[in-house]
Amino acid sequence: MMIGRHHGSKLAGAALSAALGQRTFATASVARGFTGEATAGAKFLYSSPARGGAAATTWLRAPAIGMRCESTLALGEKEARPQQQPAEDKRAAAGEKAIASYWGVEPSKVTKGDGTEWRWTCFRPSETYKADLSIDLKKHHAPLTFLDKLAFWTVKALRYPTDIFFQRRYGCRAMMLETVAAVPGMVGGLLLHCKSLRRFEHSGGWIKALLEEAENERMHLMTFMEVSQPRWYERALVFTVQGVFFNAYFLGYLISPKFAHRVVGYLEEEAIHSYTEFLKELDDGNIENVPAPAIAVDYWQLPQGSTLRDVVLVVRADEAHHRDVNHFASDIHYQGRELKEAPAPLGYH
Ligand SMILES: [Fe+2]
Ligand SMILES: [Fe+2]
Repeated sequence: MMIGRHHGSKLAGAALSAALGQRTFATASVARGFTGEATAGAKFLYSSPARGGAAATTWLRAPAIGMRCESTLALGEKEARPQQQPAEDKRAAAGEKAIASYWGVEPSKVTKGDGTEWRWTCFRPSETYKADLSIDLKKHHAPLTFLDKLAFWTVKALRYPTDIFFQRRYGCRAMMLETVAAVPGMVGGLLLHCKSLRRFEHSGGWIKALLEEAENERMHLMTFMEVSQPRWYERALVFTVQGVFFNAYFLGYLISPKFAHRVVGYLEEEAIHSYTEFLKELDDGNIENVPAPAIAVDYWQLPQGSTLRDVVLVVRADEAHHRDVNHFASDIHYQGRELKEAPAPLGYH
């Protein structure tokens, strides 16, 4: 991976940015130099007089809410959409001007090992990996204590309404459940972060490990968004469920991280089961085995020509790793120890 930054004066930087057609951040600058108007196309006229006397006028565009980073093929669609094109290229092709950078914050130009341009802005080549498919998918934590049984049956109970709602729509199911799965790591990481600050102590790497899990789950969502599109009521459901689940998990983690991690361990066991069912549907031909989304090919370093089945295999392997990390975290608490006392399994995919 090679990362190079464009340097130069702010004005030159803005001009270069415009020439490259790349996005940079320009938020606070609006507060200072914003002179004018917003149009229906979310355009803002930004005029900065503090440019050596020469007033620089630049069009800024607010990012469209809900804009998808890249896109390939949705299940059930008859025709494949054109192959991925970086969002910046699309905007440049549409004749849109780049966002100006008042602060000299220029976008990094990232290239792959072979020198070709890295097309994703949401993750870097250093964050990609090959999934370990050899992980034992059948491992199970037998619930023996009251708390473990409570965690186990809570997750089992949640499965029933999920099965009824989604039936056999596994693509949609995966997409929706990943919106929930990406919450616990972020909440756990956040609370450990605050604890580290409060107590003036190290975390043992667990903050990062849990945030890595959250990011990995979010990449699952970014991937399944490419093969399934949420309907309006599914979006509304995610909105509601997130509000409830985030707060419930936050409270649960504050009261008993031992219980919270155990719940996630069992949720991951259920996720493995769901993805196994997904694979069966693919193998039976009930779900079309479409080409793997390009984002998945790059994130998991999949060979060209990979399919949705390959993607489900690597995602399932990820879930097995999350299962291990969370059961392990709960076990540490069961032994009367704190997470920081056991080095966190960083990079455990
Ligand atoms: Fe996931
Ligand atoms: Fe997971």
